[in-house]
Amino acid sequence: MPFRKTLAATLLSAAALFTLPAQAAGQLNLVCAADVKWCELMENEFEAEHDIDVNMVRMSSGEAYARIRAEARNPKTDIWWGGTGDPHLQAASEGLTAEYQSPKLEELLPWAKNQAEVSGYRTVGIYSGALGWGYNTEILGEKNIEPPKCWADLTDERFKGEIQIANPNSSGTAYTTLATLVQLMGEDEAFEFLKKMNANVSQYTKSGSAPVKSAARGENGIGIVFMHDAVAMTVQGFPVKTVAPCEGTGYEVGSMSIVEGARNMENAKIFYDWALSAEVQSKAEQADSYQLPSNANASVPEAAPKLEEIKLIDYDFAKYGDPQTRKALLERWDSEIGAIAN
Ligand code: F6P
Repeated sequence: MPFRKTLAATLLSAAALFTLPAQAAGQLNLVCAADVKWCELMENEFEAEHDIDVNMVRMSSGEAYARIRAEARNPKTDIWWGGTGDPHLQAASEGLTAEYQSPKLEELLPWAKNQAEVSGYRTVGIYSGALGWGYNTEILGEKNIEPPKCWADLTDERFKGEIQIANPNSSGTAYTTLATLVQLMGEDEAFEFLKKMNANVSQYTKSGSAPVKSAARGENGIGIVFMHDAVAMTVQGFPVKTVAPCEGTGYEVGSMSIVEGARNMENAKIFYDWALSAEVQSKAEQADSYQLPSNANASVPEAAPKLEEIKLIDYDFAKYGDPQTRKALLERWDSEIGAIAN
């Protein structure tokens, strides 16, 4: 026994001599589909508070969904944080994401809890924001172009070459726009509208917020985006004004899901609970993100567009998050709009 004790003590003190680099207790593979600044903030803050290494990759909502789907038989991603709720619901209904009821659920606002309930707790709402556009006041001013107030204005030839919007295959913002127009106008009418508007569109981008970022830089007049992404440009000092379309508009329930069969399941749950907390959600503004947080106790940025002042449609999340509806709408977009896009 004394020999064993001595041996153990020697080994311990020998180990103490080697100051090994700090090893995280584990890993977390995160797909992040919000703005890259917010993704980086989430990665850094989580690592600072936990002994877990985060491997974060930023992508748009549709790309994130495609990745989770492609990895289904051998998941490499543990958690998918951010991006519009429709593809999260789609993944949930295909069993690609795991059921989890966080103790933080009770702190969430009804729309966020509802997202969890309708998906059988395979996803949850983390933020919300309405769709609209931002326009560059200087660009339109110099060209003497009256700014658009309504969706209907966007087909007017005065906006030729001035509009950018994302591609709905990659972007949740653009898919929300497509679904919104279908709900506002009817499907055939929405596609007629998109065909007419195509004559004014200079580019279909991959990421949803890119159109207003380039409008802020003066590359185009108008970016169709979530209103909070336009507000972010104004707050950063660009001459961008935000518009809520006069006919009414759709909105997102930005969501988070744990991947079914995640290799780092416990770490994914730790991130999930942490990301739903009021403290963490209140940090969004530090990353120039102006969505409405889902935790009822989180602070709402002063500049966040106020949903109660916007004419919102009764967006049918169940229908437009359904895999068949989404697939059919995207196929029609590819054949009728993608095929004629510049
Ligand atoms: O930039 C932030 C944001 O608008 C989120 O509110 C939204 O969930 C996400 O981007 C959508 O991005 P994308 O359209 O590229 O999928």
